[in-house]
Amino acid sequence: MTGSPAIDAPLLLGMMRLHEEPELHAPARLADWLEARLDEGLAWFDHADIYGGGQGEALFGAALRARPALASRVRVVTKTGIVTPEGDASGALHRDKGIKHYDSSRGYVAAAIDAALARLGVERLDHFLIHRPDPLMEAEATGRALDDAIAAGKLGAAGVSNFLPEQWRRLQGAMHQRLESHQLQLSLAHTAPLFDGCFDALVGDGLTPLAWSPLGGGRVLTGPARPELLAQAEAHGITPAGLALAWLRALPGRPRPVIGSLKAERIRALHADAALELPRPAWFALLEAARGQEVA
Ligand SMILES: NC(=O)c1ccc[n+]([C@@H]2O[C@H](COP(=O)([O-])OP(=O)(O)OC[C@H]3O[C@@H](n4cnc5c(N)ncnc54)[C@H](OP(=O)(O)O)[C@@H]3O)[C@@H](O)[C@H]2O)c1
Repeated sequence: MTGSPAIDAPLLLGMMRLHEEPELHAPARLADWLEARLDEGLAWFDHADIYGGGQGEALFGAALRARPALASRVRVVTKTGIVTPEGDASGALHRDKGIKHYDSSRGYVAAAIDAALARLGVERLDHFLIHRPDPLMEAEATGRALDDAIAAGKLGAAGVSNFLPEQWRRLQGAMHQRLESHQLQLSLAHTAPLFDGCFDALVGDGLTPLAWSPLGGGRVLTGPARPELLAQAEAHGITPAGLALAWLRALPGRPRPVIGSLKAERIRALHADAALELPRPAWFALLEAARGQEVA
């Protein structure tokens, strides 16, 4: 496989809660689940090394090993850079618990890439993201780790998550390869990036937007936009959750929602309903309901 893979999916399947779903833990059972998603046209899966302390990636890898034909069909995004208190083995502070921190050093990122490849059981990580901006980031060191891994064929492409424009531009300025994607919090429950310049900057810089918590972890469906979502969804004959994704997909750059549900029924509904094209007034009616005010 060569070249950086475009994220050509209408949505990605978030794996943050895989370790909390015991009925998907048997490798054959998870392989069935993955195969069903692939057959439905959903091939992109979003991981991070901290999901379940590595368990999310490991469960996924066990399923691929149980059914090797799936490995060439899945596309994976994963992330590194957050060190949890449990993961902090430095003992630097002489206390019984580690300290949550970020690490974007060259050695840490390079080792994280190898560890993710081993856990996931894939030949390369299609998109690999720095999970959070690290105030201690030395852009040349982080960029070198990413460039080297792309050159070695370990990564299809590199990207960032939760970065501000100046933060990703500092990293990009130190790299040979292009940063390809930015995973940001974006939904009807979190519209700030549409008004603070962050979303325009990433689209303008040619990054593919990946929207995490596109339903606000469920809050979009219970919050202030609920009545408008219900009314419009009924009029279109689709689900309110699917409508909330269609609202995201209307934005420039066509943000790819990274959905969290692992329920097959819900995934199928979101996949089908997110394709709806919203007229402008309907889009703004949802924005107004979510924010509790009309645009100026
Ligand atoms: N880059 C980052 O910093 C970052 C941060 C957070 C998350 N993420 C990624 O984003 C992914 C999604 O996050 P999220 O779980 O907060 O996303 P989400 O899709 O906004 O929320 C999913 C939650 O909404 C609930 N829900 C309620 N009604 C639903 C419906 N009709 N359809 C679908 N879901 C419904 C789901 O419940 P059920 O599970 O019961 O269906 C689930 O608890 C994660 O898995 C992870 O990959 C990235």
